[in-house]
Amino acid sequence: MAKREVWNSKTAFVLAAIGSAIGLGNIWRFPYVTFENGGGAFLVAYFVCLFIAGIPLLMLEFSIGHMTKQAAPGAFAKLRPKMQWFGWFAVGVGFVIVTYYAIIMSWSVNYTWEAATLGWQDNMGQYANVEYALETTELEDMAVLTPVPERFWGTEFTDPVDESLYSIQSTGTFLVAWEGNLYAISSLGNADTFMSSPGDFFFNDFLGLTSEPWDMGTFRWPLLIGFIITWVWIVASVWKGTKTVSKVVFYTVFIPWGLLILFIIRGVTLPGAEAGISYYLTPVWSKLLNADIWLAAISQVFFSLSVGFAIMIAYGSFLPKKTNIAGFAIVIGIADALTAFCGGLAVFSALGYQATKMGVHITEVAQSGPGLAFVAYPHIISNLPGARIFGVLFFLMLLTLAVDSAFSLLEAATASVKDKWKLSHKKANLIVGGLCFLLGLPMLTGSGLYILDIADHFMNSFGLTIVVLVETIMIGWVIGAEKQRDYISDNSSFRIGQWWSICIRWLIPIGIIWMLFTEISARETPYGSFGLRSQEFLFGWLIMILLPIVSDLLANAKGKGKFPENIE
Ligand code: PHE
Repeated sequence: MAKREVWNSKTAFVLAAIGSAIGLGNIWRFPYVTFENGGGAFLVAYFVCLFIAGIPLLMLEFSIGHMTKQAAPGAFAKLRPKMQWFGWFAVGVGFVIVTYYAIIMSWSVNYTWEAATLGWQDNMGQYANVEYALETTELEDMAVLTPVPERFWGTEFTDPVDESLYSIQSTGTFLVAWEGNLYAISSLGNADTFMSSPGDFFFNDFLGLTSEPWDMGTFRWPLLIGFIITWVWIVASVWKGTKTVSKVVFYTVFIPWGLLILFIIRGVTLPGAEAGISYYLTPVWSKLLNADIWLAAISQVFFSLSVGFAIMIAYGSFLPKKTNIAGFAIVIGIADALTAFCGGLAVFSALGYQATKMGVHITEVAQSGPGLAFVAYPHIISNLPGARIFGVLFFLMLLTLAVDSAFSLLEAATASVKDKWKLSHKKANLIVGGLCFLLGLPMLTGSGLYILDIADHFMNSFGLTIVVLVETIMIGWVIGAEKQRDYISDNSSFRIGQWWSICIRWLIPIGIIWMLFTEISARETPYGSFGLRSQEFLFGWLIMILLPIVSDLLANAKGKGKFPENIE
């Protein structure tokens, strides 16, 4: 019988799993979620969730892979033949994620170029102009001032007493607080030029974002270049499976770590950095009593550790017989958390600098998601000496962080297809990668960001939570948590205590059921920065309905030979 491929070394496995875990989530999601949820207090919740949910689940997924020597579908089929579809469901969740994760990477490829040529600078210049104009011109001379409708008061613009400059990201309108009143600069001499901002460059010039999801706008050809480069890179990184991955991860883990250190040093030495860091970390302890902070912590832990996506099962299946499942899970969990924490330091020190410079509140410059990486951060970098170099390095950091998350997702799907149909690794790779590429194309249109946002929201709120819930019920209650705990202990350098079974049987499932319940009831109202309406959720629910159907079809499709086969 064929021998299953294995990692080149222990280090290669640990790095590959760390590489999958650390990604965009550490740089643009974690800092902001921490900041929004009580700073230092959130860190406490995060570490609690890491130890009672994240690390035990990593152990669980590694052990399922190690025990069955199969990627997710084969692994679940071996545990219970009827559950093969569920393995495909987990692969499907990862598959949807990689289609949009690659889009964000492709923006970074394009932005590396924009950074090198300071392509967004035109807009920066205009933005700076407004600042400059405000400093040097009598306000009344330069603009016809319209009092801002009162509905804005007390929302984004709390205290319009200072003489400060604000911008509303979505419209690019500038607001000026002047003598206790808040005004919009509605018509400058050349309003169009004056009113653009770095946000305009990203959303309008770059993405060509339309005003609503049903309007696809135009296909953004320049984005296709970055997209092709991204996919060639991802597919090449897993070309010969673990053999290639084992080599690639040395670069894709250490390079972003090195760059992150550089950005922390650059960040904390900027004037005003302390303001940002103190906002990021000042503990608001009372928030620990608030349920939301715990929900935010669990979902951040899952997303960040890449559990619930079939990846860690596939990666565990390539572990050699003699291994250290529990030890690896702890090292990987902590490395991921530390990276996220450092990401926050780098980002928030820079935001503190920017807020101080503009004389505005940090909430005006702090954003999560695309807004942070493609609007706020580039803007800050452009103000620094060596803007081009820092810009290029920043996007290289994002790309090298993201690529191993992306190829881990691809590898989870490829390994599953390969296991079932006994294809060559290359063929499986091309089929799955090609499919993701095609499905990603609609996201290169003017409504791409909406599609991405909806897919992201649904996969994180429902996809991965359902996977984790079923996993814990199956292992905790059907197969037996104690049996699995013994297996993990037998394959680790130390034995794990009963706490593990308690987490798997009780704490995690209860936490997830609560999360799902909260999410479903929250879906009555639009979510997120775009305020997407319920009709648009159609797309999200459609994916959620299609996933189990397709999974069932794949499970019932005839594989080659006997599936799952015992490979030893
Ligand atoms: N863990 C990755 C991050 O933090 C994202 C990811 C999720 C990667 C799921 C793979 C699977 O960005």
